[in-house]
Amino acid sequence: DQQEKSILYQAYEFTAKLYHHILLNTEQGKPALEYLRSRGVTDKWIEQFQLGYAPTMWDRLVQLLEKREYPLPLMEKGGLISAKSDGTGYLDKFRDRVIFPIHDPKGRVIAFGGRLMGEGQPKYLNSPETILFNKSRSLFNYHRARPAIRKSGQVVLFEGYMDTLKAWGAGIENGVATMGTSLTEDHADFIRRHADQVIVCYDGDQAGQNAAYKSIGILNKAGIPAGIALLPDGMDPDEYIGRYGASRFRKEIIEGALTSVQYKIRYARRNFNLNNETGIRTYIETAVKIIAEVNSPLEREQYVKELAREFQEYEFETINQQLNTYRQEY
Ligand code: UTP
Ligand code: MN
Ligand code: MN
Ligand code: MN
Ligand code: MN
Repeated sequence: DQQEKSILYQAYEFTAKLYHHILLNTEQGKPALEYLRSRGVTDKWIEQFQLGYAPTMWDRLVQLLEKREYPLPLMEKGGLISAKSDGTGYLDKFRDRVIFPIHDPKGRVIAFGGRLMGEGQPKYLNSPETILFNKSRSLFNYHRARPAIRKSGQVVLFEGYMDTLKAWGAGIENGVATMGTSLTEDHADFIRRHADQVIVCYDGDQAGQNAAYKSIGILNKAGIPAGIALLPDGMDPDEYIGRYGASRFRKEIIEGALTSVQYKIRYARRNFNLNNETGIRTYIETAVKIIAEVNSPLEREQYVKELAREFQEYEFETINQQLNTYRQEY
């Protein structure tokens, strides 16, 4: 109920401040600070994102919450601590992890994502679903990105915490991320109310590309035009920015985003052998079927031109005739 929520908001705020303090001002926080620096995270971004460190001790947070008279059963329900299996008390949920606070659209802390600094599973531990935190609705960084989203009318959608943070540092301040879950219809509804357009910028690996294809389908179904920013060689945005820098990321990747139709055509391409005539023809047929679904004649012409330019084997007019045979079906 309302009172439980209000206490939990306070507890999350308190915990975020505690973890942030431990990261910046204590001996225990030093390795985490080093870790963040080694990943190119500046002090300014640590401050802006209120990053923190959850210490190694089993019950540091439990003790401090208790001392401040936060009801521990509610803290467990809220996902901050866990009950011991033998029923004798509570343990901290996040231990020895770098902490990314997750906020609601009003800027209240409602959950955490915690990253291990070394190897191990899970790499990121996220808060469970609680009365404050609904994963299929929440978008990491939305409250911070809001002014830039409003100004540009555009949302850039990332996979992860670090990608969103690094892109922010590279001047892409309208970035948000789903957190380990795929984009849902609820996310799309939320985005539609706040933006006119989305650029999906997922990891360049196979998993990321498959997820991007799905997200574009969900966005288009919700009536949101979606473009896609493709990253080379299996890199993710964080890695790309680290290797090639901020301005190249903005110009090549974000501004160079493909429309969803261009992307669907490119995605279909892997199924064809373009070294022989039949492969080329069947690929063009498939591409033209995708183009046939576009309502704008101008946009259709643009894509047909692109195909004709790439495949000198076929005339623009011939591809266009092929398109018209599929258009009859609409
Ligand atoms: P990735 O595996 O691509 O991680 O997962 P990443 O964002 O590149 O993380 P770094 O750079 O190694 O730190 C993308 C996102 O999926 C969620 C996180 O939100 C992560 O940012 N995820 C991933 C989890 O929730 N749990 C996991 O164990 C892994
Ligand atoms: Mn601070
Ligand atoms: Mn990934
Ligand atoms: Mn990644
Ligand atoms: Mn990464």
